[in-house]
Amino acid sequence: MRIPIIAGNWKMYKSPAEAESFVRELLPKLLPFDAVERVVCPPFLAIPAVSAVLKGTPLKVGAQDVHFENEGAFTGRISPQMLTGFVEYIIIGHSECRRDLGDTDETVNKKVKAALAHGFIPIVAVGESLIQYEAGETQAFVSGQIRGAYADIPAENALKTVVAYEPIWAIGTGRNASAELAQSIIKDAVRDTLTGLYGEAVAQQIRIQYGGSVKPDNMAEYIAQPDIDGALVGGASLKVDGFTDLVRITAEAVR
Ligand code: PGA
Repeated sequence: MRIPIIAGNWKMYKSPAEAESFVRELLPKLLPFDAVERVVCPPFLAIPAVSAVLKGTPLKVGAQDVHFENEGAFTGRISPQMLTGFVEYIIIGHSECRRDLGDTDETVNKKVKAALAHGFIPIVAVGESLIQYEAGETQAFVSGQIRGAYADIPAENALKTVVAYEPIWAIGTGRNASAELAQSIIKDAVRDTLTGLYGEAVAQQIRIQYGGSVKPDNMAEYIAQPDIDGALVGGASLKVDGFTDLVRITAEAVR
């Protein structure tokens, strides 16, 4: 039984003060929904304030990226060691980091290994562009991203990870992939690739989220799919009511 996971990716929104007051308001609303793993991923600067509010609560904190080295001459970067004690999850390989910050399958693999070595849960993000989607390359591309991200990662560590399948054309566009399409790509390109790498028993335990214009009014369709175990949510996670509805709808679906 895979516990569903809803993670809010706040991207470059919310100052430390805004983030802190947001989670103070969000926390009591999310407390009733223990059937769902609930994660917020603030910008780095807001992480300490958010983590202080949520310490000891069932609401977990994640980072949006990490460097794979512990320290060094890497201007603007944050290391896994620096995040220790503040977060439990780290989004790795988000398409915006692949696009703007130079992430490749190779750096994603290094970051996943570094995150695991420090005891974090990586949320490994994959997904194709619109051009790839229209060219019918989705399955091969996403499957390749999974193989790249999990290269040389043993099964016992792969089990600790979460995958987020996010078609780039659906992120922040309001053009979400239909639940049926998301299910078929997640099954064929993500779960079947993990089965090839680790076998059925392991692949069946790894949670896979859908991401890309997830909203309260489409959440139920995704969570009803057999291979979709939650969502990585940008825009709709920035409002207390929206976030609460996503978690409530997910909890109702798994009851
Ligand atoms: P969106 O973003 O929900 O705003 O489409 C999703 C993401 O980038 O994780």
